[in-house]
Amino acid sequence: MGLGTVRRTALVTGAAGFLGSHLCDRLLEEGFEVVGLDNLMTGDLINLDAAGRHPHFHFEIGDVREKLPVYAELVFNFACPASPIHYQHDPYATLTTSVLGAQRLIEMARGRNCTIVHASTSEVYGDPLVHPQPESYWGNVNPIGERSCYDEGKRCAETLLHDAYRRWRVDARIVRIFNTYGPRMAFDDGRVVSSFITQALMGQPLTVFGDGSQSRSFCYVDDLIEGLLRVAFVNAFEGPVNLGNPGELTIQDLAGLVRELTETNLPIVRRGLPEDDPKKRQPDITKARQLLNFEPVIDIREGLKRTILNFQARLLEIANQRQRGLQFTPVVSLDSSPLRSLLDAFPGYLELVSSCGDAHRIGNRMVAAEGMIGVSEALGVIHRAVAQATQAAPERKELRAVEQRLCQVIAELSDAQAAQDGVRLADLLEHEALPVLRRCRTECQV
Ligand SMILES: NC(=O)c1ccc[n+]([C@@H]2O[C@H](COP(=O)([O-])OP(=O)(O)OC[C@H]3O[C@@H](n4cnc5c(N)ncnc54)[C@H](O)[C@@H]3O)[C@@H](O)[C@H]2O)c1
Repeated sequence: MGLGTVRRTALVTGAAGFLGSHLCDRLLEEGFEVVGLDNLMTGDLINLDAAGRHPHFHFEIGDVREKLPVYAELVFNFACPASPIHYQHDPYATLTTSVLGAQRLIEMARGRNCTIVHASTSEVYGDPLVHPQPESYWGNVNPIGERSCYDEGKRCAETLLHDAYRRWRVDARIVRIFNTYGPRMAFDDGRVVSSFITQALMGQPLTVFGDGSQSRSFCYVDDLIEGLLRVAFVNAFEGPVNLGNPGELTIQDLAGLVRELTETNLPIVRRGLPEDDPKKRQPDITKARQLLNFEPVIDIREGLKRTILNFQARLLEIANQRQRGLQFTPVVSLDSSPLRSLLDAFPGYLELVSSCGDAHRIGNRMVAAEGMIGVSEALGVIHRAVAQATQAAPERKELRAVEQRLCQVIAELSDAQAAQDGVRLADLLEHEALPVLRRCRTECQV
């Protein structure tokens, strides 16, 4: 950017997530001043490693459901947990993030020169009866199922944003994103690409839900980001647009491809199909082609190769850290935090948290929990970690029991009660959770 030019500001909500972080990198490359906002519910600050070193990047820990602390002329609204494991963990947070998030952005943009590019999803089509799905298809969605917090939240956000456009000409651009994959996906998000790659690299059997004949289409992240920028800059935009890669393959074929590219021949284990799992999903991108001249260019083989390389490097880094005995250390002082009472009452808390898998990410979330969400969310973090351990070692019945007990305590505990309940909680963690996790860590390398 030459002297005397002024940088345009872009706000990316959900900046620490998979897509948000790639968007931040690309917007910085394009010469924007970028503000990232994230409450770290599912995101990881490590995704912003490169952006964080850029002089024109600013990061705010914040919740898109709150009044926004900044104004930007271009907003990418990507805050929302996106994988079923994550969004079903806290359906209330998922739905309110979609709906209240959209509302806050409309409040910010109304009457101002502001473009909102909103991340909607192919899930608005539910289990589609039309194939492939054009934007004109209204969908086949269960309003009260396990996935509804996500699907209906996204549908409602679309309604809000479109009404804001109709009534106040808020420049809200809705993008229905289809399955996207690539570097920085979370290992534990339960999405099929990340699960297969993680399992293959760790020498575990690949888990296929159902008979594997259900089909999906997968878009490599760079293609999607290119499409999103085109959405932001095109002059005449109206109505939602699908973005994705229409190339379709079955889950069984995807498993085969991952085995081939990781040079493994691991067995496949089958599990029952989750509730409301769509049998087919393929975008009709005719509108994106016409309006944006959008065409995905990275084929699945190449995209998977790049993703596998990234997963390999990250897993190696984690293994190295474990070897060096690195544990989670809190990034900020916990002194004034509502977690203090927990820490005082239960000195093993940090050990517990850091013994449960991906310590760094959990640490990130603790920072967020400390700052804004409170003890019950921090407990949610512990619960997630235990749930993760339970998933990795389903035969450990005692882990399941701890998980259920934690669930119960979390359900009973409100932040206001947290201080008084610290002792009861500490007892549970000290005498039940920690010993079991310690044992599991030594015995099965959880
Ligand atoms: N990845 C895909 O295939 C896909 C497909 C369709 C739609 N999308 C949409 O794209 C967006 C990003 O998806 P992703 O795959 O990067 O998921 P992600 O979970 O990696 O990222 C979401 C980010 O939003 C943050 N977040 C959640 N609630 C928040 C809140 N209330 N306030 C502030 N930040 C919050 C999380 O901490 C996380 O960093 C989501 O809106 C998702 O619905 C993604």
